[in-house]
Amino acid sequence: MNSHDFMLQNVLSDSLTEQKINDIKACFLESFAKEIDHSIQSDLLTRLVLDYSSITRQLELLNKELSLREEMLVEAQKIAMLGRWDYYPDTGSMIWSQSLYYILEADSSIPASLELFLSRVHPDDYEDVARLYSRLFDKNESLTIKYRLITADNRIKWLHLRCSPAADSRGRTDTSHYYGTIQDITEMKTAEEELEKYSQHLETLVEEKVREISASQMATIYALIKLSESRDDETGTHIERTASFCRLLAEKARSQPKYANEIDDSFIETIFKASPLHDIGKVGIPDSILLKPGKLTDEEFAVMKTHVQIGYETLAKVGEQYGRNEFLEMGMDIALYHHEKWDGSGYNEGLFGEKIPLSARIMAISDVYDALRSKRVYKEAYSHEKSLEVIYSGKGIHFDPTLTDIFLQAEEEFRLLYDSTR
Ligand code: C2E
Ligand code: SIN
Ligand code: SIN
Ligand code: FE
Ligand code: FE
Repeated sequence: MNSHDFMLQNVLSDSLTEQKINDIKACFLESFAKEIDHSIQSDLLTRLVLDYSSITRQLELLNKELSLREEMLVEAQKIAMLGRWDYYPDTGSMIWSQSLYYILEADSSIPASLELFLSRVHPDDYEDVARLYSRLFDKNESLTIKYRLITADNRIKWLHLRCSPAADSRGRTDTSHYYGTIQDITEMKTAEEELEKYSQHLETLVEEKVREISASQMATIYALIKLSESRDDETGTHIERTASFCRLLAEKARSQPKYANEIDDSFIETIFKASPLHDIGKVGIPDSILLKPGKLTDEEFAVMKTHVQIGYETLAKVGEQYGRNEFLEMGMDIALYHHEKWDGSGYNEGLFGEKIPLSARIMAISDVYDALRSKRVYKEAYSHEKSLEVIYSGKGIHFDPTLTDIFLQAEEEFRLLYDSTR
C-alpha cells in the first residue's frame, strides 16, 4: 500500500468508526439515566448544570474530530496522482505523460490526441469541458474544471483538469502551445462524500442530543417544580391543570384579531411547557408561611410575594449556564409577572395593562381560576360558579378585560378541564 492509499484508508475507515459514536452516545445516555435524587432540591439544579457542561464538552470533542478529518483530507489531496499533457494547436498534436494513460485507462500504444482525451469525458460533462477548451484557445487564460470521465468498463472517475497557455522565455503568452495537468480525484471525491455523510451524521447526533437535553431539562425542572408544589398543593395536579388552562386560553385568544399576531403555534406550545414554572420560586418560601393554615400577616405575605423574584432569578441562573431560549424567556416572564394586575396594583413591579407580558396575563387568569377551584391549606375549594364570579369581578382590575371575556365565553370548557383533572 503506498502512502497515498494509506492516508485515504485512514480517512475512510476512521470516518466509519461507530464505536466512538456509541461511546459518546453511551456517555450522554448515562449522564441522564442517573436516578434523580428527590431528597435535596439544590442537588437537582447542580446536576442539571453539570450534565449540561458535560454535554458541551462532548460536542466540542465531536467538532474537533471533524476539523481533524478535514486536515487529513487536504493531506490526501496533496499526495494524489497527477498526469501532465501538452497540446500544440498549430499541428493539432498532443503529448502526455504515462500516468495520464493510467488515469484515462487508455491503451498506451494509442497515440495521445485531443480526440482520445475527449472521448472519455462523461456525456453530461462533455459540453462543459469542450467550452473550457474553446475558452482556453480564445481567451488564453488559465482555467480549471472538475468533471467526470467514463471508463471502458463504465466506471465513473472524477478528474480535475487544469490548463494554461504556455509562455515564451520572456514571459509572453505563446498561443502555439498549451499545457496542463489532470488529477484523478475520484478517491478524494469519495472521501469528501464520506466526510459529508459523516458530518451529516454528526449533525444528526448533535440534533438528537439537543432534543435529549431539552427533554431531560424539562424532566428535571418539572421534578423540581413538583417538589415545590407538593408542599402546598392538595392534589398535586395544579401544574398539569394550569398548563392546560394556559394552552386553552391562548388558543381561544388566538382567534381574536387582537392577539392573532402574537399567538402562534410556537407561543401555545411554549406557554404549555413554561407555565408550570410560574411558582417555582415557592421553593424558597419557608413552610411556616407556605403551609400556614390561616390568613397570612402583612409581614408573612411580604415574604410570600418574593416567590416571583426567586423564581425569576432561578430561571435566569439556568439561562446564564447554558443560554436562554424561548422556553426559559417565557418562563422568566411568567414567574416574575404572574401576580401583576391589569390596574397596576399587583406585584412585583406594579406593571399595568399591556405592559404586563401576554403570557403572564394568560397565566394570571389560569392560576387564579385553579387556585379558587382547589382546596388550599388556607382555603376551601370554590365552586365553578363562585370562581367565575371572582374572575368576572376582577375584569379590568386584576385581569386583562379582553382575556377575561374570552375566558368567560369558554368557561364551560375550563370547567370540564378542571373536573377531568382534579
Ligand atoms: P395560590 O394559592 O396558588 O393562589 C394564587 C392566586 O390565586 C392568589 O395570588 C390570588 O390572586 C388568587 N386566590 C387564591 N385564593 C383566593 C381567594 O380565596 N380569593 C380570591 N379573590 N383570590 C384568591 P396571591 O394572593 O398573590 O397569593 C399568592 C400565593 O400566596 C398563593 O398562591 C398562596 O400560596 C399564598 N397565599 C395567599 N394568601 C394566603 C393565605 O391567606 N394563607 C396562606 N397560607 N397562603 C396564602
Ligand atoms: C429547552 O428546555 O431547552 C427548550 C424546551 C422547549 O422545547 O421548549
Ligand atoms: C425578562 O423577563 O426577561 C425581563 C424581566 C425583567 O428583568 O424585568
Ligand atoms: Fe404565584
Ligand atoms: Fe400557582
